Amino acid sequence: MTQDIVARINQLKKQRDAVILAHNYQIGEIQDIADFTGDSLELSRKAAAVKESVIVFCGVHFMAETASILAPDKTVLVPDVKAGCPMANMITAEQLVELKSQHPEALVVCYVNSTADVKAHCDYCCTSGNAVKLVGSLPRDREIIFVPDRHLGSYVEEQLGRKLILWPGYCATHVKITVDEIVAARAAHPGAPVIVHPECPKSLREAADYSLSTGQMVALAAESAHTEFLIGTELGMLHRLRKDFPAKKFYPVSEKALCPNMKKNTLEKLLWALENMEPVVKVPSEIAKQALRSLENMVAVL
Ligand code: 13P
Ligand code: SF4
Repeated sequence: MTQDIVARINQLKKQRDAVILAHNYQIGEIQDIADFTGDSLELSRKAAAVKESVIVFCGVHFMAETASILAPDKTVLVPDVKAGCPMANMITAEQLVELKSQHPEALVVCYVNSTADVKAHCDYCCTSGNAVKLVGSLPRDREIIFVPDRHLGSYVEEQLGRKLILWPGYCATHVKITVDEIVAARAAHPGAPVIVHPECPKSLREAADYSLSTGQMVALAAESAHTEFLIGTELGMLHRLRKDFPAKKFYPVSEKALCPNMKKNTLEKLLWALENMEPVVKVPSEIAKQALRSLENMVAVL
């Protein structure tokens, strides 16, 4: 059955001139059928550069919106249009406009986990992979508003030694991981480094050895002499790491770190999207034009 679906998706992909992009948190079957699997920054860069006329984006809604803004001439399909990111929905454009009115001189940086409406009101966008570098490149004498993730924001503050105006958003998945689970994982696998995502609260980041974007986790696993790793992020990441590095061992810090939205996409829905050429994610051109400025800055920062 699954083999039939896989064969049909591959056949339709050619007919529709489509490319399948998948985030590192997608279910294994989707990662395996994708043409490219990566983190938010890698996927944005890929979407901006693909030659195919259709992008099937397997991730969450803001990622497909970002692809639509960076590749306005392409048709962007998603397997499940209801796969949203709760953190992205924790701030609206109206709330950001109100915050900006309280700090009229501030530069505004948004995490890519935000809606296109919010991005349209920002000066710069960043991902967890380049947030420190991007904010670090901004003038030190300007106030900076950082939305919506207060944990990534506080990580940037710690790394750069400067205060930001933070919004109280957070990732509902990463806050499920506990320090006790890190302690227990270390006891079960002595010597294995603990890697968490910077969306984790400070207490977890302090208890870990590294705070890295999912793409940086792959890079660390590739170059590290360690053969065992403890991974404190969404469980889909384990598939990516085990597949890329079969000779190394990866253990989840917490079995609770599951993002229900990332898991809404299935092979059946992916096939349905290619068959019916919907659901389409298309950002209205006026908003896309405004949001593009901040996204161009994001993809340019390594
Ligand atoms: P990265 O893959 O860019 O590290 O982001 C993690 C995430 O939560 C995406 O929603
Ligand atoms: Fe949003 Fe967190 Fe899920 Fe990423 S893991 S999509 S930040 S809720």
